[in-house]
Amino acid sequence: MRIFSGIQPTGRKHLGNYIGAIRQYVEGQDRAGASRHESIYCIVDLHAITVPYEPVELRERLYDTLTILLAAGLDPQRSILFRQGDVPEHAELCWLLSSVTALGELNRMHQFRDKSVAQRELVSAGLLFYPVLQAADVLAYRAGEVPVGEDQREHLELMREIARRFNARFGGDEEILVVPEHRIPPVGARIMDLQDPTRKMSTTGGSVEGTVYVLDDAMTIEKKVKRAVTDSEDPPVIRRGPDKPGVTNLIDILAACTGREPEAVAADFTQARGYGDLKAAVAEAVVAELAPVRERYDELRGDAAALEAILAEGAERARGLARATLTDVRAAMGVGPAA
Ligand code: TRP
Repeated sequence: MRIFSGIQPTGRKHLGNYIGAIRQYVEGQDRAGASRHESIYCIVDLHAITVPYEPVELRERLYDTLTILLAAGLDPQRSILFRQGDVPEHAELCWLLSSVTALGELNRMHQFRDKSVAQRELVSAGLLFYPVLQAADVLAYRAGEVPVGEDQREHLELMREIARRFNARFGGDEEILVVPEHRIPPVGARIMDLQDPTRKMSTTGGSVEGTVYVLDDAMTIEKKVKRAVTDSEDPPVIRRGPDKPGVTNLIDILAACTGREPEAVAADFTQARGYGDLKAAVAEAVVAELAPVRERYDELRGDAAALEAILAEGAERARGLARATLTDVRAAMGVGPAA
C-alpha cells in the first residue's frame, strides 16, 4: 500500500510536528520498504501560498523543511521526497476534482473558517480550494494511507468523499481513485504547549517558551522543560489525567521519546518527591531525541544545490506515478482526446 503525506514549508518545526508527523514518516518509510511499497512525502509550497507570504522566504523555509526531514531519517533512496510545485499534476487534478466538490463542503471546513477570519486583507480563493488541492495530492498517487495529525481529520474525510463521488460519477464499475485511510499516530498525537498544556503545541498562537523547536539546542530545551507548567497538587502526584494536563503532557512526551507506554513511564515516578525528577527525565529524553537531528541538519542545510538535486529526482519519480492516474482521470472525464 502506498503511503502519502504532505508537510507545510512554513514555520519552525517543533516537537509536536516531530513526534506527531515527521517520526511517523520515517516509520512509514520502514514499513513501506519492508513490503516493497512506496512512501511518498511532499513539501506543499502550493498550499503555503494560500495565505500572505514572501517568495524568497518560501524557498528558504522549504529548504529548512526538507533538511529537517532528511535529518530525521527520511532517505531519498527509500522514499519519494519532493516539492509539490514541481509536479504540475497536483494542480491539474485539483481542478478536475473541483467538479465533484461542493462549494458548501468547502465553505464549512473549520480550517477555512478559522483562517479566513484571521486574514486582514485578502481572503484568497486558494484558501477555500486548499482541501481540494490536498485531496489531489493524495489521490494522484492512489495512496491508501495518510499519516497526519488529528487536526486534518476533516480534510481527510472530504478527500475520501471526493474519491467516492468521483468513482461513482466517472468510474463505472471501476475504482479509478483509491479511497484513502487516515492514520493518526498512536502516541503523541497531541503534544501540548509547555506553558499552556490545554493548547496544542503550535507554530502559530503558541508561546515561544512553551514550544520546543526541533532545532533548539540542549540548554534551551532544558530551560523550557524545567519551566513547564504542572500543577500544585500537594504532595505532587505523577499520573496522567484530565485534571492534570501539564503532568500528562510531560509523561506523554517522555513516553514518545523513549518508545514506552505512558502508564509504564508514570509508574517509574511513584516514589518521586516532586515534579523536578520528571522534568529532568523529559529534558534528557527530548535532547537525546533531537540533538542528532540538529547535528545532521547543520551538516546538510548549507548545500542548496544538493537539496535541489534531491527535490528534482523526487519530482521525477512522483511525476511518473501521478501521470498514470491523471491519464485515467482525464479519460474517464472525457477531457482531451479519446485514448
Ligand atoms: N494540510 C496539511 C497540514 O497542514 C498538509 C498537507 C497538504 C497534507 N497536502 C497533504 C497532509 C496531503 C496529508 C496529505 O498539515
